[in-house]
Amino acid sequence: MAQPELDRLKAELIEAIAAARDLAQLDEVRVKALGKKGRVSELMQTLGAMPPEKRKSFGQAVNALKTSVSEALDARHQVLAGAALVEKLASDRADISLPVREGPLAEGRIHPVSQVTDEITEIFADMGFSIAEGPDIETDFNNFTALNIPPEHPARQDHDTFYLPAAADGSRAVLRTHTSPVQIRTMLVQKPPLRIIAPGRVYRCDSDQTHTPMFHQVEGLVIDEQTHLGHLKWVLEEFAKAFFEVPKVKMRFRASYFPFTEPSMEVDIGYAKVGDEIRIGEGDQWLEILGCGMVHPNVLKNVGIDPKRYQGFAFGLGIDRIAMLKYGMPDLRAFFSADLRWLKHYGFLPLAVPTLAGGLGAP
Ligand code: PHE
Repeated sequence: MAQPELDRLKAELIEAIAAARDLAQLDEVRVKALGKKGRVSELMQTLGAMPPEKRKSFGQAVNALKTSVSEALDARHQVLAGAALVEKLASDRADISLPVREGPLAEGRIHPVSQVTDEITEIFADMGFSIAEGPDIETDFNNFTALNIPPEHPARQDHDTFYLPAAADGSRAVLRTHTSPVQIRTMLVQKPPLRIIAPGRVYRCDSDQTHTPMFHQVEGLVIDEQTHLGHLKWVLEEFAKAFFEVPKVKMRFRASYFPFTEPSMEVDIGYAKVGDEIRIGEGDQWLEILGCGMVHPNVLKNVGIDPKRYQGFAFGLGIDRIAMLKYGMPDLRAFFSADLRWLKHYGFLPLAVPTLAGGLGAP
């Protein structure tokens, strides 16, 4: 092959390189030119059969061709790889403002009890409380005795308790009738100062429009060296304002009796019903939402805390009750009837997590 032919081949290959529109096409050109059976490689293979005086000059010419083609391939590769990256970056862009795609996330709803539990947790966490937990099946000791309700105490009759079958030693576990046993569990393993809340399920053998055999409470417990009733009132008022998202609440503290607190109170929230709407902080209707009081010294003794040095307050709040009040749900039984239409109406969007900053009752 003479020089003019080599030049033509070069021009042809350079043109093909320039014409390659993506990396795959470019690679095809590379294989056809420089691959094992490529046009340039084939020329190299003819060298062996040439007479030595020709071989040298022809070898140099083919090498020059190979170099030019390689350089052209590299240059084009850079251009095309850059373009490919730009294109990928453009098409990979995620629009994080897009709404959730139709599907389980768009269909699913958070149950109002879960939502309200999250709201309560958020408020108390902000006040420095941590979360404690206990099991639904409790010992008689934790649910009653340690809470200053010894066997034969009349207060045991106030709770319509579900008992489990007796164990071999005659003891009978119970479905906890309140979250107060979590007070005992916490104080048995942690030293004061204590500041906890304990949300969870509780059970009583009872059923009508405002009572279900299973319902939800959140327990609160504060134990420290200088705690008094004023702290209790402040915490509950701050909670109620944050929870109902109103600047002012009407709260009524009524003297009451619980074996594990002294003094004891029940707290009502004032509201007005305007048409279908419930307005918190107005009007002259009252709904009882919680029981509370200063922790009884006997309870502290039962868990090995010195009542001369420490005292504190506790409260037990009905989660379902305040959920009904805040979101205007009239029948407690609907909470647990697993009716999808009800959940669709009263449920919350899974991604609308309640925060104090973003709003608690997010849509
Ligand atoms: N455990 C009580 C109940 O379920 C509520 C309560 C808790 C009262 C803590 C006082 C202190 O009725």
